[in-house]
Amino acid sequence: MMIKFTLTLLVVVLSFSPLAQAGESSHAVEKQNWGFNGPFGTFDRGALQRGFQVYTQVCSACHSMKYLSYRNLSDLGYDESQIKAIAAENTTIDMNELDEEGEPIERPMRPSDAFKNPYKNDQQAKYANSGALPPDLSLIAKARAGGPDYLYGLLTGYEEPPEGVVLASGQHWNKVMAGNKIAMANPLSDDVVGYSDGSPTTAAQYSKDVSEFLMWAAEPKMEIRKRTGIKVILFLLVFAGLMYAVKRKIWADVKK
Ligand code: HEC
Repeated sequence: MMIKFTLTLLVVVLSFSPLAQAGESSHAVEKQNWGFNGPFGTFDRGALQRGFQVYTQVCSACHSMKYLSYRNLSDLGYDESQIKAIAAENTTIDMNELDEEGEPIERPMRPSDAFKNPYKNDQQAKYANSGALPPDLSLIAKARAGGPDYLYGLLTGYEEPPEGVVLASGQHWNKVMAGNKIAMANPLSDDVVGYSDGSPTTAAQYSKDVSEFLMWAAEPKMEIRKRTGIKVILFLLVFAGLMYAVKRKIWADVKK
């Protein structure tokens, strides 16, 4: 009886947890076999580093990631000096540091700076992209139903439009984008980014890696959350058993 109750409770708790809902996706999105799926899933550091490389070399030309600072990259396995070097590849105009004439100085970026925004403001971003605003990618993996599956589907979902469909200039056909029309041209093709770890340099591999990277960016504490969840469930199971023993002991005389 008690065991049945505990198991039912466990099933109910698990099916309402965000873990179970994370896989939910819109119609055309195929689920991928991510290493970070499931209650024991973790991110693959190699894939995260490759995904960051794809973001830096391709996506960051148009998209910002304003909620990430370079120092957050320590999660990906980079050490302090590597992070300093990565940050210093970019410069920023620092309003708080003035030269002797009182003009803000341009300086190399530091680990505490947010990722460089390719545009000065949204107006400039829209103007450069024929009126379409490239969204900030910090939280995009959480902002779209299907999360990383959707992102992978989007990046691999460019096709010729079906017969009879006429696209306005600057529009592209994508099988998973809402309404199938997207103002972003296919950003990836084979061999546009060189990998140093021997992973295949295909558009599909880039899409997979950058989707995993964007998932990490949107939920950097996922691994800790899952570990805590497992500990809590284990504690509750032990506690339920203990309480059952106590209950039996207290009621033992009454029942007889
Ligand atoms: C040349 C500029 C450019 C590049 C490079 C680029 N994008 Fe985009 N992206 C855009 C624009 C513009 C939009 C807005 C499209 C729209 O609203 O139709 C967009 C939209 C998106 C969206 C949102 C789609 C949705 O569901 O609304 C995602 C996700 C995205 N881009 C990811 C990426 C990734 C990942 C890369 C790198 C592999 C990348 N983009 C490279 C310009 C770019």
